[in-house]
Amino acid sequence: MTYDLIVIGGGPAGYLGAERAAQAGLKTMVIEKQYIGGVCLNVGCIPSKTLLYSAKLYDGVKYGDKYGVSASGLELNHAAIVDRKNKVVKALTGGVRTQLKKAGVTIVEGMAQIDGRASDGYAVRVGNDVYTATRLLIATGSVPAVPPIKGLDAGLKSGFVVTSNEIFDLTAIPSSLVVIGGGVIGLEMASYFNSAGSKITVVELLDRIGGNIDSEIAGLLQEEYSQKGVEFRLSSKVVEIADRSVICESNGERVAIEADKVLLSVGRKPVVDGFGLETIGVEVEKGHIKVDEQGRTNVPRVYAAGDVNGRSMLAHTAYREAEVCVNHMTGRKDKVAYDSIPLVIYTNPEVAAAGETEESARAKGIDFDTVNLSMRFSGRYLAENQGGRGICKVLVEKSSRRIIGVHMIANYASEIIYGAGMMIDRAMTVEDIRRTVFPHPTVSEIIRECVWEIS
Ligand code: FAD
Ligand code: NAI
Repeated sequence: MTYDLIVIGGGPAGYLGAERAAQAGLKTMVIEKQYIGGVCLNVGCIPSKTLLYSAKLYDGVKYGDKYGVSASGLELNHAAIVDRKNKVVKALTGGVRTQLKKAGVTIVEGMAQIDGRASDGYAVRVGNDVYTATRLLIATGSVPAVPPIKGLDAGLKSGFVVTSNEIFDLTAIPSSLVVIGGGVIGLEMASYFNSAGSKITVVELLDRIGGNIDSEIAGLLQEEYSQKGVEFRLSSKVVEIADRSVICESNGERVAIEADKVLLSVGRKPVVDGFGLETIGVEVEKGHIKVDEQGRTNVPRVYAAGDVNGRSMLAHTAYREAEVCVNHMTGRKDKVAYDSIPLVIYTNPEVAAAGETEESARAKGIDFDTVNLSMRFSGRYLAENQGGRGICKVLVEKSSRRIIGVHMIANYASEIIYGAGMMIDRAMTVEDIRRTVFPHPTVSEIIRECVWEIS
């Protein structure tokens, strides 16, 4: 049977792309080999946020004294938290299936193998069945990167080292956890297991945590977690996984850190091998599928969206990229606003950002002003964050007075930042924001406070 579109991969890019395509009238099939909902719903965004919410509740009560709240017999029940996580995942993945069926998408479960060109497009094999389609959307996502470190393969095999694929199902809280990589996964998981009582050591290659986030905010986040007992070993390279320890090198010195468990979180690798991309000649560059602004590969009517194109490994980017691909397929002009994609780290406090950092704006030669305010200018923040040290930074281009970057460390930042992304994408100016009514009292008002500081 011939389809208008076959989508390979049922993660955020794949399932949303399939749904949008069917809604637009394309006869669509999605093929998923492991789990509908992909990494995000099964072993990524949703499991991590479910665990982190329980930890936040627990810490809220544990340190509730300063708010006049105290409790005895408080317990973080990891098994119950994992059980609840499984229910949340089941509900959401079930919802995705229902949505796909409602939209009229055919779901095929199995490993898709592209099998060259067919007279009416492309052939895709799943086991003994061969399907053809005039268009393909490749949405095969990514997997944890595994660098060539001595002893790592054996550590992974024995279960001493885990990746994000396994960590959500640990049945017990490790007494000590060494986190290799102080990026987004490393920090979120360090946050949960710190609340749950593990002794955490984060080993990071660079001299800062959090990758490209604002460096002052990275410093504040590190201080917050250092105070909570997390040890950070920056500018340190892991060189060996030994028996119950991680060996790293810093300034030529070798240090062994004992561990009950190790989390490997040093980035993710797009899935580009083993499913026949070469049979139709799709170009892979530096480990990811090369695409243009509309998500088109070098092969006619073959698109790629989500982590597999290596542009921005985030679920919300995957959604938009898939929509842009489908819009292009159905003759509608569209493109992803990459410059204003929000980023959130769901630690406690949260970090959220959109647009340029001071570093990136300087590197581009943009002439800008920065306003950097303590979150204590927000009444609600003060009411809810005893002793909190959050900040908000707003970057404004001098000539146009446009907002070009917003960076926050404070709870609720995750829920506020889409507004900042919109301000940047819609080229809103200081005057536009000054005229905007923000609800009071909310943490979001800090953005309004910031723009009134611009001369
Ligand atoms: P994936 O979700 O990886 O889905 C690809 C799917 O394709 C998989 O289900 C796979 O089984 C399937 N597949 C692959 N090859 C084939 C084949 N040949 N045949 C059939 N099926 C195939 N992002 C956020 O925006 N916010 C977050 O809070 C967040 N938290 C995260 C936490 C963790 C621990 C991790 C690991 C990631 C997190 N991410 C987060 C990133 C997010 O999960 C990814 O950006 C997102 O899942 C990418 O979607 P995708 O559709 O491109 O790929
Ligand atoms: P990452 O790229 O965020 O961080 C990896 C870190 O590991 C970097 O800081 C890097 O310098 C460090 N590193 C690399 N090699 C190392 C080594 N040998 N020793 C020590 N440190 C080393 O990657 P991460 O955390 O694995 O996450 C992958 C992606 O998943 C993220 O980039 C993000 O796109 C997505 N994600 C998003 C989340 C969110 O939006 N809240 C949450 C979790 C993941």
